[in-house]
Amino acid sequence: MRILYSGIIPDGRNGKNIMQEKYHIITYGCQMNVHESEKIAGILRGLGYEETSEKEDADIIVFNTCCIRENAENHAFGNIGALKKLKKQKPNLLIAVGGCMTQEKGKTDVLKKKFPFIDIMFGTLNLEELGNLILRKKAQKKKVIEIREKEGEIVEFTDAYRTSYPNAWVNIMYGCNNFCSYCIVPYVRGRERSRKPENIIEEVRGLIAEGYKEITLLGQNVNSYGSDGTTGMTFAQLLDAVASIEGDFRLRFMTSHPKDFNEDVVLVMKKHRKICRLVHLPVQSGSNAVLKAMNRRYTREKYLDEIKMLKKHLPEAEVTTDIIVGFPGETEEDYLQTEALVKEVDFASAFTFVYSKRQGTKAADMEGHIPEEIQKDRIMRLVELVNSLTRKKSEKYLGKTVEILCEDYDAKKGLYMGRDEFGRMGYFASATDVIGQLVQIKITKANGISLFGEIV
Ligand code: SAH
Ligand code: SF4
Ligand code: F3S
Repeated sequence: MRILYSGIIPDGRNGKNIMQEKYHIITYGCQMNVHESEKIAGILRGLGYEETSEKEDADIIVFNTCCIRENAENHAFGNIGALKKLKKQKPNLLIAVGGCMTQEKGKTDVLKKKFPFIDIMFGTLNLEELGNLILRKKAQKKKVIEIREKEGEIVEFTDAYRTSYPNAWVNIMYGCNNFCSYCIVPYVRGRERSRKPENIIEEVRGLIAEGYKEITLLGQNVNSYGSDGTTGMTFAQLLDAVASIEGDFRLRFMTSHPKDFNEDVVLVMKKHRKICRLVHLPVQSGSNAVLKAMNRRYTREKYLDEIKMLKKHLPEAEVTTDIIVGFPGETEEDYLQTEALVKEVDFASAFTFVYSKRQGTKAADMEGHIPEEIQKDRIMRLVELVNSLTRKKSEKYLGKTVEILCEDYDAKKGLYMGRDEFGRMGYFASATDVIGQLVQIKITKANGISLFGEIV
């Protein structure tokens, strides 16, 4: 291991200090991407780069993009465009763009045209090649564009540079086979493939030994883990095996798909107190007609039955969800069914989205696209409803003692912060550094989505 002195390493041969090359990564999108940025950081560090928080100091800037909605793409476009000046001032600066957007059909051409100063483009399916692409670019003037069309064998990463202590993300599977009619993910992430259980277990064991206190298993649809027949295990069995690993840690998993979520998983949750009593179960809509058009392959009734089954075994369990409003053909009546379902389930929280047309998906060619004013009106009403439920839930915390896993120190607030098992954020004062520890907090104030309290 090299020891760094504020970014300068002593050069042993002549005693002079030489500057270390630095990287800066900008990440958009879901946890999958957040974790992949940790893998990218691992690759860059393997090449000798060190991290910088300032774009201006970087020798390479990597964009890890998302294309789930139009505004995710627009953010990336805006931020890449903003680098034009810096690149002029620092011609040796390398700009690399990867992630879901470059994997989209025809997108690299658009990017090349819009931003001719991009040096390297890579996709989600050849992330592991980034190191080689950088070396290739350094040896040639021409830009390097390498996108793989089809997924290959799973590449096992051992050197991700993790930045989310005390939590660690662990992929259990990649890709998606579901083709929900609005969604671009299956087109940019390839077909579903599951990691071998022994590799997952070995990774988690290593993380626990290193001191990580929370493990989150990641997949687009964790419940179909192993359904390709290559792992010899279902998701419930994998969850059982991971939760059986010795040590003090919290275990989470996401995302569950209502068409595959089942009692086996809930029984494993019940068996292990380590597994957080929180299920992220995206419902998308409360209307059967819309669910059908979305190709979600479950009904409102099936969804509600699953919630009942979960609460039967684990009455304390909470559910979070994702909802889309303004899907093509969604009527006011359909929308009101979503509102009614939200009230009935009483979600701990919900991510709410306005439908965004994605080129190449089935829904893009559907009739009945909803005018923007109606979409806006629906999302505003839904956000208000969700916020009022979240506020009510927060108030119930007042006077209670909850267990928080301390994640960080918030310098602005002068308080430590962390989450309870339901993902609720809690702030508190502490005389000693408690990051990475489970602390008992008595809640004295609940402010919308955040809790405030005192260590007891
Ligand atoms: N695999 C997960 C999450 C996928 S993306 C799942 O199946 O639930 C996260 C969320 O983005 C989705 O749950 C959905 O609510 C939303 N989303 C996906 N495509 C969208 C689109 N075209 N417009 C608006 N929201 C979308
Ligand atoms: Fe997209 Fe549906 Fe796959 Fe989730 S399950 S990633 S929403 S296609
Ligand atoms: Fe995630 Fe966005 Fe890709 S949500 S899978 S980064 S399109």
